[in-house]
Amino acid sequence: MMKHPFLIDITNKENWLYPTNGYNPDGSVSEEQRTLTMPEGPHKMYCFTDSLMHPAQDQNPAFVGLHEHHMGYETFFVESGSMIFYINGKKTVVEKGNIIHIQPYEAHGMVFKDYTIYRGTFHDWNCTDDAVATALLEKNYPNAKKDPEFFSLLISNIDMYMREPADFPEVPATEVPSVRNPDKPIAEFKLDGVTMKMITGRWENGGTKEFWRAEMKKGFTAEWQDYPTVQDLFYVQSGEIEFKVYDEVFTAGPDCLVKIPKYAPHSLVVKSDAVMYDIGGLTQWYALLGDRESILKLNPERFKKPETINALKAKYGCLIKTCGMK
Ligand SMILES: [Fe+2]
Repeated sequence: MMKHPFLIDITNKENWLYPTNGYNPDGSVSEEQRTLTMPEGPHKMYCFTDSLMHPAQDQNPAFVGLHEHHMGYETFFVESGSMIFYINGKKTVVEKGNIIHIQPYEAHGMVFKDYTIYRGTFHDWNCTDDAVATALLEKNYPNAKKDPEFFSLLISNIDMYMREPADFPEVPATEVPSVRNPDKPIAEFKLDGVTMKMITGRWENGGTKEFWRAEMKKGFTAEWQDYPTVQDLFYVQSGEIEFKVYDEVFTAGPDCLVKIPKYAPHSLVVKSDAVMYDIGGLTQWYALLGDRESILKLNPERFKKPETINALKAKYGCLIKTCGMK
């Protein structure tokens, strides 16, 4: 079957670019990982991976694999199961529905309690680039990744720095700033047919991006500018969304990524209430929606003029032409 040009079903093996395993010290599988989209551009953005984590054989802190990155940012969706998450001197239980955001120099590690669907998006991190070479190595020498000597070599070649095994006091997830709950976003804006929730701020991503969740009602539509100058990558977590890209119409549902090339005219219509994440995150939504609210509150007359919002869109890189309920 031909791959769809814009729709990536994460559960379809044909879309797995570099399927690979992680291994426990005894050689058993700890993680089944696959890359769905590769990093792109100077900040290595638009990268998305899917992992099925196996329950840890041993919950001893010695096996947590505490480590830090010095350049890379990691954002993970915990889509099923549960895990114990160690970060910055604390540990906590993270369950389905939470999102984890890890910045450089935050020492972190995890122990999975159940089979857990663990999906990640990254920027400024070189690990996924290595997937090309490690996949080839594994194909030719299936046992190479089980070799501890190769593992240390791999670690020393990517932006990953191992820390000493450690155990930390357990606290509620609400006391760990890296664990994000979509019910308690950093900022929330209600618009016609969509609630925009900011999960991570631009200041938490080295200024490179911000990370938003759109909760859209059935009947909500959005149409982008004719030739948008940046690509889009969306992750659909629930609901059904009909997209039109060029003249191609298709429906994206749960477990789908939608990857739209730059300059491609596109629009969407929500067919059943949907939750979607903007993985690209270049638009300065927080400034745009914040300024919009300020103008509405302080100068309603100015707000009514169409040029007011158009100027904000241009200033903050919003490429959506129109949106709202049909
Ligand atoms: Fe990490």
